[in-house]
Amino acid sequence: MSEPLVDTFGRVHRDLRVSLTDRCNLRCTYCMPNDFADWLPGPELLSTDELMTVLEIATDLGITGVRLTGGEPLLRADIVDVVRRITGLPTPPRISVTTNGLALVKLAGPLRDAGLERVNVSLDTLDRERFKALTFRDRFDDVLAGIKAAQAAGLAPVKVNSVLMKGVNDDEAPALLRRALDEGWKLRFIEQMPLDPSGIWLRSTMITADDIFAALSEHHTLTPVPSRGSAPAEEFYVDGGPETVGIIASVTRPFCAACDRLRLTADGQLRNCLFARDELDLRSALRDDALDAAGVRLEVERRLRLVVKDKLPGHGINDLNFIQPTRPMSAIGG
Ligand SMILES: C[S@@+](CC[C@H](N)C(=O)[O-])C[C@H]1O[C@@H](n2cnc3c(N)ncnc32)[C@H](O)[C@@H]1O
Repeated sequence: MSEPLVDTFGRVHRDLRVSLTDRCNLRCTYCMPNDFADWLPGPELLSTDELMTVLEIATDLGITGVRLTGGEPLLRADIVDVVRRITGLPTPPRISVTTNGLALVKLAGPLRDAGLERVNVSLDTLDRERFKALTFRDRFDDVLAGIKAAQAAGLAPVKVNSVLMKGVNDDEAPALLRRALDEGWKLRFIEQMPLDPSGIWLRSTMITADDIFAALSEHHTLTPVPSRGSAPAEEFYVDGGPETVGIIASVTRPFCAACDRLRLTADGQLRNCLFARDELDLRSALRDDALDAAGVRLEVERRLRLVVKDKLPGHGINDLNFIQPTRPMSAIGG
């Protein structure tokens, strides 16, 4: 194996988030504009062969975990084949998928058979009307059916991600945890980050990790689980365990010092942070007719090292001069 991807702060990069498409079949208000139609044209997306070239190189450079995301990754027509090909790489990484769950009834079994081990499903509310208002789609029951299908297929424990917003669903933290305990979900709350399409996120009104901890503590005793490592979630035993709940405090308690993540957008742009202002074009190296396979490999490796080298110590959300990235979350890949 080649030298790993180490940045100037000594952080070794092991985790690659890969967006498979910018398209989604929900319109979560904090992620994608409801009337969005400016999709990436098909030829701009990395082909599956191009993606495998990147992943073969990245895993040789020490990437051990790949998370497939989007947009909605299960909208990628060849998603099962993508998973199967990743598991067949010379140094196969752990694979997980972050999904809204809508296609899991159809795909959970085939994905499991292709080698998928874990799935994260996003669900912010247990109320059908709220779900409709939040996502602009009446698909609440389909998400629940998708979670059940994932459990039945053995993609367990299913992790459920929830974003709480003031006056929208911030009263649901205890109910979401109750439901998670009852159904065997591994629940994680994510602080809302300034990646919304309309730029209306406000630090002063966001629901913080402390708010969530306080709301849950009214009903349960939460005790910290030690050994967090580079994981974004702070985990807590619920009422002594063994069940846990996670809180991802990206804004109020950033974990950048332990960040080991890189991101690849569906159109082949490398990002060293969700909040990076710059991207590095990997696709042009993959499509450079002047390069043979060895040349592509050298150039992709050079660009991977470059983007890692340029990584800043922190995401800067709390800096006075913070500027939100131009792409919303849906186009970056959460
Ligand atoms: C961008 S989505 C993509 C994958 C898939 N469509 C899904 O729904 O999980 C991945 C995760 O990012 C989260 N997310 C999106 N926008 C966010 C924001 N502004 N702040 C925090 N989390 C966000 C979503 O809730 C979801 O859990």
